[in-house]
Amino acid sequence: MSYELSINGEKYIVDVDGDIPLLWVIRDTIGLTGTKFGCGIAMCGACTVHVDGVPVRACVMPVADAAAKPITTIEAIGETAEGARVQKAWLDIDVVQCGYCQSGQIMSAAALLAANPSPTDDDIDAVMAGNICRCGTYPRIRAAIKLAAAGR
Ligand code: FES
Ligand code: FES
Repeated sequence: MSYELSINGEKYIVDVDGDIPLLWVIRDTIGLTGTKFGCGIAMCGACTVHVDGVPVRACVMPVADAAAKPITTIEAIGETAEGARVQKAWLDIDVVQCGYCQSGQIMSAAALLAANPSPTDDDIDAVMAGNICRCGTYPRIRAAIKLAAAGR
């Protein structure tokens, strides 16, 4: 079936089954590979994108559910105010180790700051708990989110 997707302000017509996860369409059909596959079962957060401004796990969202809604991926999150501040803070604090989880981390962090401009440690931990980092960059992630919040 044909679906029209709006990703990062661009329109894409894709001819795929409606129950294919959004992640595969973003990566394989459209070729935006910044969004990563980790677990495939909504447990790690590597595949986080925004659909209608809400962070979702693209590995378990059927593409049919995302059609006709604005989708933002890591490739364009820097064009939002929160995303730009988060990405700058990530660089300033040098958060990244291997980097695999980090696009999902940044997508979750940007959504957090859009909803809560001054998060406490508990707020940060609650929202970011769904994003797993095998390298253990959590302390730097928390510090970078606080830096991004302070820079608003
Ligand atoms: S790949 Fe989607 S949450 Fe792990
Ligand atoms: S930086 Fe390596 S998995 Fe998070």
